[in-house]
Amino acid sequence: MSDTPLLKVEDLTVRFAVKRGGGFGQKHYLYAVDNISFEVKKGETLAIVGESGSGKTTAALAVARLVAAYQGRVDLGGQDILQLAGEDLRQMRRRVQFIFQDPYSSLNPRQRAEDVVREPLLSLTKTPAAEQQAIVDDLFAHVGLRPEQKRLFPHQFSGGQRQRIGIARALSTQPELIICDEPVSALDVAVQAQILNLLRRLQAEYGLTYLFISHDLGVVQHMCDSIAVMYMGKIVEHADRLSLFNNPLHPYTAALLSAVPTVDKTLRQKSRRILIPGDPPDPVNLPKGCRFANRCPVAQARCREEAPELKQVAEEHRIACHLVDESAQSPL
Ligand SMILES: Nc1ncnc2c1ncn2[C@@H]1O[C@H](COP(=O)(O)OP(=O)(O)OP(=O)(O)O)[C@@H](O)[C@H]1O
Ligand code: SF4
Ligand SMILES: [Mg+2]
Repeated sequence: MSDTPLLKVEDLTVRFAVKRGGGFGQKHYLYAVDNISFEVKKGETLAIVGESGSGKTTAALAVARLVAAYQGRVDLGGQDILQLAGEDLRQMRRRVQFIFQDPYSSLNPRQRAEDVVREPLLSLTKTPAAEQQAIVDDLFAHVGLRPEQKRLFPHQFSGGQRQRIGIARALSTQPELIICDEPVSALDVAVQAQILNLLRRLQAEYGLTYLFISHDLGVVQHMCDSIAVMYMGKIVEHADRLSLFNNPLHPYTAALLSAVPTVDKTLRQKSRRILIPGDPPDPVNLPKGCRFANRCPVAQARCREEAPELKQVAEEHRIACHLVDESAQSPL
């Protein structure tokens, strides 16, 4: 671990044009990611958590240049990757790899496992063939697959084994940053633990930096150094792991945390369940105040008028709520 951020995201915004009835020729936009900023230090893991539709995947895809950003800067080791083209972009793709949620749909069913793992080496590097085979063999061993499984097709593996193939493929180009988008959500609980342990072991072994996306705080509790909580395209709270679990300041974070039975009691100050009523607002027609106001148990008149800024209340703790100040006291 070090203090140098490997990844520095500044004011990142991603918007999609969407069709809506009404006014002729009027364009409507859905701001899936709305002006978010965060850093991930080299060798560390930042978890991004939030409910479905909060913008986690879109933010991750924009960081990896797999979806176009509308605005912002994504600095990887001192280079703004949103500005890269040609060979520089190819080099960036080598350095940033993705592990997807569903290992089955992200693997080509007609490719043998060893070819799946080799594919990024072929498309992104000029590694000689003999060396490629040595890398693939080595990766198979490192992710816990047997040599004879190299010739099998994806459907011949279990879900957990398929995710091991996905991990080996992501590692093949010796990336620095790995983006894991819900990597264990499709797996049984027992298999989840194995894959999370594997990811942690590989991180230590190769000095990897992870951006780890999950809707489940229980999954990230043993996996991350810090956590950013997203709601409706915004980061509403961002803290180191212990601060977030011990002293959740945003009412939304507190509610998310109280809903996770597997979170260590020692890491969870409040054990009473906090329910959040109602549905999130229409993402194409957001309220002008706090986006959480219609569901927040402590909302005040000001909350509906004015959007709270994400402000720093402790060295490693940022929060967007009118009712939280430097005293870092929960409003609940
Ligand atoms: N290509 C697209 N076109 C239009 N809207 C999109 C597109 N991709 C995502 N969205 C919208 O952007 C918002 C954020 O979606 P995103 O998939 O990033 O959320 P998420 O936090 O990853 O959710 P989940 O937990 O379900 O994976 C949602 O309102 C979604 O409908
Ligand atoms: S700003 Fe107001 S509505 Fe938003 S989370 Fe804080 S108290 Fe609740
Ligand atoms: Mg997603």
